[in-house]
Amino acid sequence: MKFAVIGHPISHSLSPIMHRSNFESLQRKDEYIALDVPPQHFSHIKEIILENDLDGFNVTIPHKESIIPYLDNISVSARHIGAVNTVLIEDGKWTGYNTDGIGFVKGLIDTYGPIANKNILVLGAGGASKGIVSEMDKFTTSKITVANRTMERFETWNIDINKYSLEQIVPYLKDFDIVINTTSVGMNDASDMLIIPINELNKNTLVCDIIYIPEKTPFLKACEENGNTVYNGLDMFVYQGAESFEIWTGQEANIDIMKNKVIDELK
Ligand code: ATR
Repeated sequence: MKFAVIGHPISHSLSPIMHRSNFESLQRKDEYIALDVPPQHFSHIKEIILENDLDGFNVTIPHKESIIPYLDNISVSARHIGAVNTVLIEDGKWTGYNTDGIGFVKGLIDTYGPIANKNILVLGAGGASKGIVSEMDKFTTSKITVANRTMERFETWNIDINKYSLEQIVPYLKDFDIVINTTSVGMNDASDMLIIPINELNKNTLVCDIIYIPEKTPFLKACEENGNTVYNGLDMFVYQGAESFEIWTGQEANIDIMKNKVIDELK
């Protein structure tokens, strides 16, 4: 079978080497290529994919939303999230999925155990947040809390969550077992521009970010210095790829091989 990742820029994508390591370990003869599709060429996406004779592909920045009008079918959760990162091609029909959210949640559970009774706070209410919260909601009995800069962002949400602004959540920060930053704040900014006053967090809180390059964002570094255990987005990247592979092939991916390959590449 033949797969690809489409995005722009794409030359630094670790998806091809990660997926190839999995194919090899499972003794599969599949191919996985990177296709650089600049936004001005996106209207030719059907031809580009047909020319490459693909069985499925991943979609990354900046095309996760622009791909939607080209699909024949879309999963319920990808429609709700409003973004697609995986397309399965069967008999010429394209079906879109989003494996980012389930990727984060499976990675978290495999690393830190069940989240059923955890009190969880998600920072940010954009596409990434919605994907993670809608999947996490299936694994927990507690109502998830989401805090966002602007309350308007919640208008497109149809999940039963506690909604707060970033200011309103401050007095409750101590109450959470897990805090997940899905915003880009604290990625490149100075550490005094952190999204929440981290000294208000309980030292036992697990603090997560969905970024993995750099390995620790200023936000995670500051939380670690504060005494918290921190968890970056590397597993999310690996597990979203594993989920895509399973959608395309029906076969379970070799997650350990994929993760080790990515870690090696990042050294
Ligand atoms: P993604 O798909 O990565 O989630 P997005 O849908 O554009 O991207 O969402 C970006 C998220 O980061 C939003 O929650 C956004 O908050 P707003 O809804 O108020 O815009 C949040 N965000 C971005 N910059 C921010 C900042 N400087 N301070 C606080 N939140 C910020």
